[in-house]
Formats: sequence, structure tokens, C-alpha cells
Amino acid sequence: MKIRILCVAGARPNFMKLAPLVAALDRDPDFLPFIVHTGQHYDDQMSGQFFRDLGMPAPKCNLNVGSGSQAQQTAEIMRRFEPVILEEKPDAVLVVGDVNSTMACALVAKKLQIRVIHIEAGLRSFDREMPEEINRVVTDAISDLLLVTEESGSRNLKAEGVPASRVFLVGNLMIDSLRANMNSAKQSDVLSRLGAKPRAYGLVTLHRPSNVDDPSHLAEIMETLAIIAGELPLYLPIHPRTRARLEEHHVAVHPHIELTEPLGYFDFLWLMSNSSVVLTDSGGIQEETTVLGVPCLTMRDNTERPATIEEGTNILAGTRKASILDAWSQLQQKPKQGRIPKYWDGGASARCVEVLRAYFAGGGSAR
Ligand code: UD1
Repeated sequence: MKIRILCVAGARPNFMKLAPLVAALDRDPDFLPFIVHTGQHYDDQMSGQFFRDLGMPAPKCNLNVGSGSQAQQTAEIMRRFEPVILEEKPDAVLVVGDVNSTMACALVAKKLQIRVIHIEAGLRSFDREMPEEINRVVTDAISDLLLVTEESGSRNLKAEGVPASRVFLVGNLMIDSLRANMNSAKQSDVLSRLGAKPRAYGLVTLHRPSNVDDPSHLAEIMETLAIIAGELPLYLPIHPRTRARLEEHHVAVHPHIELTEPLGYFDFLWLMSNSSVVLTDSGGIQEETTVLGVPCLTMRDNTERPATIEEGTNILAGTRKASILDAWSQLQQKPKQGRIPKYWDGGASARCVEVLRAYFAGGGSAR
């Protein structure tokens, strides 16, 4: 009998982490993985396009929860996920990352006494104003098996009292996807479509509620980006949340900041690989730039991914005009070099499969 693993996909950053793992489990005769999509992200540009680019199997079902407040979205995912578990009776539910779908599905599974496997466990920003931090802490507290991307994750879980027998450093699945798809990304025509010259532009992403929901703060960030755009043209593939806020509050966008629709995976990878700097408030992009060797200014006050700063090309730039411009001028004087953290090597999915095999061979329990 194959071990049936229900893999939860919810929002854009989940997809590139799941793709290589679902493929590796699928190739293995011991496992039968299948995907349940919560529908947290639902636009083709935010979801369907990534399934196609990444060659992922279609979800077995889609809960179509859509958008809502934190509580509405989380509650709706839980309500709709429970009957799926009762029907499918999987051997384990596997959740990735830190989005609302991650926590909601972990809670439902655990209360039905289904094992929970958390991929990208242990990351901590220590900022409980971030919805993602709550999702991380809750998911890790109830997970049976915790697979970690970087050493800080193991340290944080130890400090929280999680037994070491449940925690495994496997590396970074997002980097498996990056490495596996670089050749396809090279075929992208995104540079010519946008008229961008390699190393002669910066790439910006911006979507955190703390940066975009408050109109005066959003205006301050856009004003700061406008100053930078005076020196280096910027491309900003725009997240639907940010587009909505810019329009709602009539925030001005400098003519040297080119807004584009959200890009597909190959286009984004290629645009990022050829940029001279990335300015972002994303989590995963801090990791991808570290592997690509592209300097990254993170427009946040903290990061749950300290390896990208300690070892990689990432610099915390804060979220105010003065701090971002300060980091920008530092970078002009001395571009940050870095090295690639342990196990961010394309082999994370194979390590995950071996951890899962050993776990189920031992009866599926870890003390
Ligand atoms: C979510 C995650 C965040 C992750 C981000 C990546 C949580 C708490 N947040 O934030 O960690 O970094 O995804 O994108 O889980 N919208 C669309 N189309 C879509 C999806 C969203 O138009 O396909 C719009 C809706 O107006 C929605 C807004 O974007 O209200 C925000 O979407 P939501 O899923 O609530 O949060 P994100 O900001 O995307």
C-alpha cells in the first residue's frame, strides 16, 4: 500500500516549494502524493500560470476559498478542508511555508488525528504583528515532522522545546525549483518584451500589508523608490493587493518605475537573474537572490531568513525613506557578496523523501 500524502497548495509562494517535492514523491513507488488547492490565490497570474510553468499535476480538488479578512479566510479554509480529509483519509497532510492555508489545514488535520508534516518549519521573524509569524508558530507547535531550510530553523525549534527527533535540516525546496527551471527561464523573452538591458535595472516587489495597506506609508515607499528610479530604472511586477491600494489612494508612481502585471515563474526568474539589484518585502525572493548572487535590499525591519543576511547577498533596509536610501547608498559603495547556505543545492526534495521514508518506516511517529 502506498503512503498517501495530501499536499496543501494555497498561495503563490507555496507552488515552487511543492513542485519538486510532489514530483519526487510521485516518482517513488512508496508514495502517492496528491494536491488540494485551497484557492487562497485564484487569479491565473497568481496560481494557474505557476502550475503550468512548474509542470505540476492538477489539484485533486480546489476549495475555492478566495480572499477575505485573516479570520474569514482562515475559517473558510478550515470549514471546507475538513470534509476533504474525512473523505480522503490521507496518511499525512503536508503543508509548506507560512500562509493562511498552511496553518488552517494543519489545524484541521491535527484535530482529526492526521499526521502533519511542515516544510520550511522553524523560521521566525519574532514579529508577531506579521500574520505569517502567527501561522509559523501555530503550525510548528502542532506538526509531527518539521523539515527545515536553514540552521536558524533548527535552533528556533530547539528553543521552543520541539524534540530534535522531529526536526530535519533538508535545505530549500524553492532552490530546487530555481535550479531545475533555470534553463527554461533562459528562454524567456521578458527582457526584450520590457525593453530591459541586463544589469541596467532594478527589480522591485512589494505586497506586505505593513508596507502597502497604510496610504501614507505606501506613499513614502513609492517616493523613496522614485528617488532610486532617478538613478536606475525599476520594474515592479505588481501584486493585486498593491495595485488595489495604489489605485484606491491615488499614490503617484514615478515614470521610471515600470509597473507590469504579475509575472510567470520563468519570466520572473529571468528578470531577477539579470537585474543589478532587487528591492523586495517578499520572503522567498531574499533566498532566490542569495542563490543568484544578486544584491537584495529587503524593505522590512526583520527577516525570518537570517541565513540570507549572514551568508547571502541580503541587506535589511527597513521600511522608511531614510533607512532604504541609506542601504541603497551603502550598496552603491560596496555591493554585497555572499555564499550559498548549506543544502540550498537542488537536493532538498530528495532529502525530504528520505526523511519521510524513514519516518513512515518507523511507524510514522517521532518522539
Ligand atoms: C499571501 C500570504 C503572504 C504571501 C503572499 C504572496 C497570508 C497571511 N499571506 O498574502 O504570506 O507572501 O500571499 O503573494 O497567507 N488577490 C487577487 N487575486 C489573487 C489573490 C489575491 O486579486 O489570486 C487580491 C485580493 O484583493 C486579496 C489581496 O490580493 O484581498 C490579498 O490576497 P491574500 O491572499 O489575502 O494575501 P496576500 O497579500 O496575497
